[in-house]
Amino acid sequence: MNRRSLERVFIAVAIICVAAIPVVHAEPSFFQARVAPIFDRHCVGCHGPEKHKAGLWLDSFEHVLRGAESGEVIKPGEVKASELFRRITLPDTDEEAMPGDGKPRLSADEIKILELWIATGASATKPLSEYPTAPVPPRPKAPAVPLVADWRPRAAEIATLEKTLGIRLAPRSQVPTDGLILRTASAPARCDDAALVALAPVASFIVEAELARSRVTDEGLSALGKFENLRVLDLTHTKVSSAGLAALASLKRLEVLNLTGTQVDDAGAAQLKSLPALRRVWLFESKVTAAPVAPTAGSD
Ligand code: HEC
Repeated sequence: MNRRSLERVFIAVAIICVAAIPVVHAEPSFFQARVAPIFDRHCVGCHGPEKHKAGLWLDSFEHVLRGAESGEVIKPGEVKASELFRRITLPDTDEEAMPGDGKPRLSADEIKILELWIATGASATKPLSEYPTAPVPPRPKAPAVPLVADWRPRAAEIATLEKTLGIRLAPRSQVPTDGLILRTASAPARCDDAALVALAPVASFIVEAELARSRVTDEGLSALGKFENLRVLDLTHTKVSSAGLAALASLKRLEVLNLTGTQVDDAGAAQLKSLPALRRVWLFESKVTAAPVAPTAGSD
């Protein structure tokens, strides 16, 4: 190759590179940069590939705009008429408030971001630079204190238990010391007291247990009492009653407990007062008649 053609090759390569740059460095859209991370952090666990409550997926722009089984949740340009906005701004105590199940609510900045996005037409492409006044949420920090030991060395044992018991032990986040979530929703009827006993060897990795509509009874609660790192426990529509609740007294880290649709009565609710970390309890459709036992509990 002579010098002249080498030069030509060089110029051609340079043109290709320059042409490619704007694509690589294209400014992200406001949706990509600010809105989607909020859905990922707070909503996709229940509204995404793994679970899709109310038929609603919040894992992509198309899915958000498609809405739920019952219809659209975003009306571009109309904040007040958008069901999604209504849900995130309801008071904590409202059963319809989102995120559901006592998960942390959105910050004022996050709500502002969603409000701005809807008000300006809920666009997929409007660039970030068109929102100079939008708040910039702080990056979520990794928790300083690990919630549990790293579960990865036990991954094979965990996978075997998942298979034999027909449950899921899903990582709570990408941080292995954030622990595992016990999920039964795809087949809650397969999870019973015996399954909880069988999980004992890996119980210390489990920080959340989703046992709604499972066959767990008071007997199973004594196995659950040994899940020392449990923070969130959902026993909605199970057969548990006040008699079983005593076994939960050992759960010193339990923060959120859902007893909706159980047989728990006033005596059982009173026992919950001894749980030091408990901050939210649900007792809808239970036998409880007395005043709420925890700061934000509901009993109607
Ligand atoms: C712990 C699970 C959970 C999380 C997390 C969660 N949701 Fe939900 N969501 C539900 C359930 C269950 C329903 C159906 C019951 C109801 O309508 O209240 C629902 C319903 C909804 C609906 C109503 C859909 C309809 O039928 O019109 C909207 C909107 C919604 N969620 C938005 C959100 C948003 C936004 C987030 C995150 C900020 C979120 N959810 C996080 C469980 C969750």
